[in-house]
Amino acid sequence: MQMTQAGKQLLLVGNWKSHKNIDEAFDFFDGYRLRTEHKVIVCPPMPYVMPLKQKAEGKNVDLGAQDLSPFEMGAYTGAVTASMLKGMIKYVIVGHSERRKYFHETNEVVANKAKLALENEITPIVCVDEPYLESQLAFFEPAEFGKMVVAYEPLAAIGSGKPDSPDSAEKMAVRIKQLTSDDTKVIYGGSVTHENVRSFCELKNIDGVLVGGASLDINEWSLLVDAVK
Ligand code: PGA
Repeated sequence: MQMTQAGKQLLLVGNWKSHKNIDEAFDFFDGYRLRTEHKVIVCPPMPYVMPLKQKAEGKNVDLGAQDLSPFEMGAYTGAVTASMLKGMIKYVIVGHSERRKYFHETNEVVANKAKLALENEITPIVCVDEPYLESQLAFFEPAEFGKMVVAYEPLAAIGSGKPDSPDSAEKMAVRIKQLTSDDTKVIYGGSVTHENVRSFCELKNIDGVLVGGASLDINEWSLLVDAVK
C-alpha cells in the first residue's frame, strides 16, 4: 500500500466533542471496518472511552480523550486525571480553543495537562493558533516538544466550513517547528473533510489532521481515512 508521502505515517484524529449518546457511539464502532497504515485516533466524550476501547479492539483505531485534569489525583471534584487514563488511551487533546474559550483555560493550565499526560505515557495533542503561538508554547521545556503533537487550529476555520489554505497551514507548521523542535509532530485542524484532507496531509511539514464534524459520521470518516491511503 502506498503512503501519502513515502515513509510518513499520518495521525488522523477525530474529536467528537460533546456529541453522541452511548447507542450512537456504539453504532459508530459496530460499523467500523477501516484498514489503513496510518494512525487513527477517535476521541469520544470521557464516559465512553472505556466501553468503546473494548468495542474498538482489533479494529485499527485507538481511543483518545478530549481533555484531562491539570492536577494529580486528589480532592478535585469532577476531574479525570492522566494517571486514571494511563494505559486506556494513547493520546489526549489539550487546550482546544473551545476549552480555552468556554472553560477559561490558561496557557499554564494547558501546559500542566500536557505535562501530566507525558508523565503518564499519553501523548498530548496541544492545540494552538497563530496570534498566540509564542505564549501558548511558553510553558514547555525543550525536551517536551519532541514528545508531543501540536495541532495548528485557526479559530476561523473551526466548524465554519472554511478551512485554512494548505499554503498557510504549511507556513504555520514550519513556524511551529522553528519554535519547538524539528521532531515536533504538527497536525492541522479546522473544517477538514474527505475532500480536502489530502491537500493538508501531502504537505511536507504536516503530519496529520484533527477533525471535528467530519469524524462524527462513520461514512464521512471512512471516506476521509480512505482519502489518504
Ligand atoms: P471541525 O473541528 O473539523 O468541525 O472544524 C475541528 C476542531 O474543532 O478540532
